[in-house]
Amino acid sequence: MRVPLLDLKAQHDPIRKDLLAAIQEIVDRNSFILGEDVASLEKNIAAYCQTQYGIGVSSGSDALLVSLMALGIGSGDEVITTPLSFFATAGAIARVGARPVFVDVDPVTYNLDPNKIEQAITSHTKAIIPVHLYGQCADMEPILQIATRQGLAVVEDAAQAIGAEYRDGRRAGSMGTLGCLSFFPSKNLGALGDGGMVLTNDQTLADLIRILRVHGGKPKYYHQMIGGNFRLDTLQAAVLNVKFNYLDRWTALRQVHARHYETLFEESGLVQRIGLRLPQAVYRGSGVSHYHIYNQFVIGVPNRGGLQNHLKQRGIGSEVYYPVPLHLQECFRSLGYREGDFREAERACRELLAIPTYPELTEHHQEIVVDAVREFYEQ
Ligand SMILES: Cc1ncc(COP(=O)(O)O)c(C=O)c1O
Repeated sequence: MRVPLLDLKAQHDPIRKDLLAAIQEIVDRNSFILGEDVASLEKNIAAYCQTQYGIGVSSGSDALLVSLMALGIGSGDEVITTPLSFFATAGAIARVGARPVFVDVDPVTYNLDPNKIEQAITSHTKAIIPVHLYGQCADMEPILQIATRQGLAVVEDAAQAIGAEYRDGRRAGSMGTLGCLSFFPSKNLGALGDGGMVLTNDQTLADLIRILRVHGGKPKYYHQMIGGNFRLDTLQAAVLNVKFNYLDRWTALRQVHARHYETLFEESGLVQRIGLRLPQAVYRGSGVSHYHIYNQFVIGVPNRGGLQNHLKQRGIGSEVYYPVPLHLQECFRSLGYREGDFREAERACRELLAIPTYPELTEHHQEIVVDAVREFYEQ
């Protein structure tokens, strides 16, 4: 039996009729740019994420880019972020002409280590971008305190973390100046293509991002500023409006699977025997289980390459997020970072492996995965 990393067919089959009906309605209406579907998605997602405003944009990458543009960050500025993220986090900083400044991650959550931020701040620092990696919030309180003390903006990269809650119940994307979501198909709420959203409680920034989203034109064809085409497609918004009804159910299932993986791995003895590391949901409180939304279930293992090959031979999907830390990416060589600069992020890039997780995963699938992992380390 094959166990893919993600099974979008299993997700879409039961709601196929509703998805196709939503698409057909847009086709019949012949209205493909912004409009009611985008507006209602913005309203629903903003409320879900506990912010006043949501601005639908073309992708999570563009959400980050337009956020930095709206904050006026550019040449000569520095933005602090993590070296352990998808490229877009640092790419957005570089694309506005600013300098990414990396700070190592916490070894337990793999999120930005707040204790290391202050020493990276200079007179050029304008913002901090914490990433809520794999679906768990970064430790926001100390980050927000530093930002307030130093007069910095905070842009939360919540691309992987829609609905994830910090320890006090505040949701990913609602705590900083701006929050960025991605609707890439593999996210907990995924479009049938690209999409993203900027979240904020700041009306001035929300208005500015709405203008930047349409090339900076307001009224149309009159440009006081330069933006881009950052619009979320009406078709994707219509699809997302359908899928949004299932988001909590899907996330709850991912959390059930996480608990089951924990049990299976603990029973396997691998935690003691090979030092296998399980994801730690550090903000898990009483009752509510929104603290980690498990966009990915990521384990830490020795001989990761060998394990990945073994899983592949058994028809089990896995993925490395991410093989190269951002400070060692070739395009950032001119920033002058070296191997050894961020040991926790570098270790994570060597040892972490995402194993199958998606709402429709069964306990049987999970047993197959854990058995295959155990088999590899028993060889
Ligand atoms: C942490 C992080 N930031 C940004 C992005 C960019 O989002 P998108 O793929 O929608 O452009 C992603 C998406 O994979 C991500 O995981």
